[in-house]
Amino acid sequence: MPRTDHIKEVMHRYQSSFYFYDLDLFEAHLQAIRSVLHPDIKVWYATKANPMSEVLRILWKNGFGADVASMGELQQARAAGFGENDLIATGPAKSKNYLAGLMRAEVRAIVIESLNQLRDLNEVCGKLGRRQDVLLRVQLEWDDHLKSVLGGSAITPFGLGVEDWEGVDLSQFKNVTVQGLHCFQWGNILDLGQLERLWSSTIVACKSLSRAMGFELKILDLGGGLGISYTDDRELDFRDVHRVLLGLKQHHELATIWLELGRFSIAKFGSYFTRIVDVKSVRGKNLIVTEGGINHLARPALVGEAFPCEAFLNPDPDTKPFTVHGPLCTALDTLGDFNLPATLRPGDWLEFKRTGAYGFTESMPYFLCHGLVGEAVVYQNELLIPRAPKTNLEWMI
Ligand SMILES: Cc1ncc(COP(=O)(O)O)c(C=O)c1O
Repeated sequence: MPRTDHIKEVMHRYQSSFYFYDLDLFEAHLQAIRSVLHPDIKVWYATKANPMSEVLRILWKNGFGADVASMGELQQARAAGFGENDLIATGPAKSKNYLAGLMRAEVRAIVIESLNQLRDLNEVCGKLGRRQDVLLRVQLEWDDHLKSVLGGSAITPFGLGVEDWEGVDLSQFKNVTVQGLHCFQWGNILDLGQLERLWSSTIVACKSLSRAMGFELKILDLGGGLGISYTDDRELDFRDVHRVLLGLKQHHELATIWLELGRFSIAKFGSYFTRIVDVKSVRGKNLIVTEGGINHLARPALVGEAFPCEAFLNPDPDTKPFTVHGPLCTALDTLGDFNLPATLRPGDWLEFKRTGAYGFTESMPYFLCHGLVGEAVVYQNELLIPRAPKTNLEWMI
C-alpha cells in the first residue's frame, strides 16, 4: 500500500496529531550502514533520539547495540530484546541504583562522567563482586566557538576536562577496567571535512590523555554528531564517513572506534502531522495556528531551527509565506516560517518532515492541558499503532 494511504488511514483513525515512522526505510538504512562496517568500527544507537519499542526492536534484530542514558531507556531497550553486551550507558546523572541496574543488565561498558561516578561504580561493583569495563568521558577545549546542542566549546556536565582526569590515580578503583575514552561535543554536522578535523583533534588529545593516565586506549568512542539537513537536500553518505574513520583509525593506530548515532539513524524516517485550526492575517503577516506545536515537537523552540514543512497532499504552486504557530499561549510556540499553499484552511493537515529523531520524547506535552500526540508506524508494509493519541482526560489528575 502506498505510504500516503497508510497516513490517510491514521488521520482517519486518530483525528488528531501524530508521528508517523516508515520503519521499512529505516531498516534498509540500518542494513546499508552495517554492510560497510569494518569489524573495528562499531555503531551503537543513541536511544534518546527515538526510544519507541518498534524502533528499538528493529535495531536489535539488525545487530545494532544501544546507548542508554537513563533507567527508562535501559528498561525500554531491555524490553526490546537488548541483552548482555548489547548496551552501553552514557549520561551525566548516574545514581548508585542506576549503576547497579546497568551492572545487572551486564552492559558492555559504562561511560564515566565524573569522579563520583567512578567511586560509586567501584563501590557498586565491590558489593556485587564483579568488575566492569568503563570508558572515561573527556571534554576538550576548542578554539572553535560554533554553537552545539552538545555544548561545543562550552563547559558542560558531560565528562571532565583533560586536566581534571590527568591527576586521577586509577589504581584506587580496583573493580573497574578502563578500556578507553569517550569524547563528543559537537552535534548535527553535515560537513565531512569538519567531522574529520574534529575527530582528528579528538584522537590526538585522547591518545595523549590515555598515555598520561597510563592505560591503553583500546576503545575510543566519538559519540554521535552525524548531521541531517533541515533546510536542503545535503546528505552525509555513511560510506564516506566510514572511509574517513577507517583512515583515521589506521593513521593513528587505534584499535577500535565506537560511534553512538541518534539523528543520523532515524531522523529521516519520521514525520509529524498536525491539523490547521486557524488561518489569519495579523498586521500584514499570514499566520497559521495548528492543533499541535512545541507541546508535540519542541526542537524548533529549543534550537531555533524549523523542520521542513509541507501541506499534506496539496501541491498547489500558488503559495504565500506563513508563520506556523502551535496552540500554546506563548510566542515560543512557533514551528517556523514556510511558503505554503495560499488556499490552506482549518482542517487541512501539515506534515513536518525529518522528525523521526528528537521529536516525540523531546517535546513538552503537558503545558495548557492538551491531548498527547499519537504515534504510528509502517513496518513490512503493515500499519502498526504503537501509541494512540490520548485526550487530556486520560492523563490529567
Ligand atoms: C552521549 C551521546 N551520544 C550520542 C548522542 C547522539 O547524537 P546524534 O543524535 O548527534 O547522533 C547524544 C546526543 O545528545 C549523546 O548525548
